[in-house]
Amino acid sequence: MSTHDNTPAVVDQTTHDRFPNPGMPPHRPRRADVDERASRRAALQVVIFFTLSALGSIAFLVAYYVIDPELKGTIIGIGEINLFHAALGVTMAMSLLGIGLGAVHWAKTLMPDEEVAEDRHPPAASDEDKAAVAQQLSHGWRSSQLNRRTAILGSAGGALGLFALPLIVPVAAGLGPRPRGELYRTHWQDGLRLMIDPSGAPIRAADVTQGSVFHVMPEGWVGHQAFEEHGAEEAMISKSKDQVILVRLDPSIIKSQKQRDWGVDGIVAYSKVCTHVGCPVALYEQNTHHLLCPCHQSTFDMTDDCKVIFGPAKRPLPQLPITVDDEGYLVAADDFREPVGPSFFERERPGLLMGDDA
Ligand code: FES
Repeated sequence: MSTHDNTPAVVDQTTHDRFPNPGMPPHRPRRADVDERASRRAALQVVIFFTLSALGSIAFLVAYYVIDPELKGTIIGIGEINLFHAALGVTMAMSLLGIGLGAVHWAKTLMPDEEVAEDRHPPAASDEDKAAVAQQLSHGWRSSQLNRRTAILGSAGGALGLFALPLIVPVAAGLGPRPRGELYRTHWQDGLRLMIDPSGAPIRAADVTQGSVFHVMPEGWVGHQAFEEHGAEEAMISKSKDQVILVRLDPSIIKSQKQRDWGVDGIVAYSKVCTHVGCPVALYEQNTHHLLCPCHQSTFDMTDDCKVIFGPAKRPLPQLPITVDDEGYLVAADDFREPVGPSFFERERPGLLMGDDA
């Protein structure tokens, strides 16, 4: 029901009879409703707001690529600030504000603001109702004047389209270089001794008694030595990918031949990086031969290729092939033969086996 004489044609006039006006004030046309010049001025203002938003989005991208992220400056009353961050903040605010102001101004000055009421309908619409809805939509489209306001539509589309870029570009560009084959490799390689973490002592096979557990890293990548020789970044990468747990099992309870072949008299080595989301799997239950991840309780069976028997992990822990050197020390026979850690989308890529150039 319209509360003034300019009732939309589609509203049932009998509604007036059945539902009296509950007290709504009479509709007052706005200036832009009755004055064509005011209407054009309001439309121009909306276009300006949307254009400002688009300029803000473009300025954001320019600032993102042009300004040095470390650039500092001093602002009176605030002190030293990072100008890169300030520029991103100001341009993003301009982009958002332009869209907000444009949309609000458009709604308040140009979009129809008449009050209407309609009856509740049964769930399935009749043909007459469908026709009425189509007529209403058509009326709404005409009264919104969007068909005449191509400048507003164009500027709003441009502002919204460009506004997506400040959201997408920093995420896409900020991910850093693609890891490519690095996800498929660790620092383990043929002949590298298994060193106790963090002492850095090598391990003789004879010293690994049944049921004992060692946390090991590759030779040259343990503790301070790794930081001093390779730098902090590489050492941290090594720590996140290379960590291995070493256990001696009774060979008779090992279920798979591969597991036996890649171990030494029941001594087996597995990646400690959980295949769920990468926590260190460090809890070994001697009685059950289960390895537990403390983060979300994924449980791996060490006697059965470290398959997952409980929890959210979807993949067994990768096994590190090991052997002994001439002096009886445990050494790696190669790198892992599959990527360690959580799943990622290219995991099944062919050419993954050890020795391949991933
Ligand atoms: S990280 Fe191991 S279960 Fe989630």
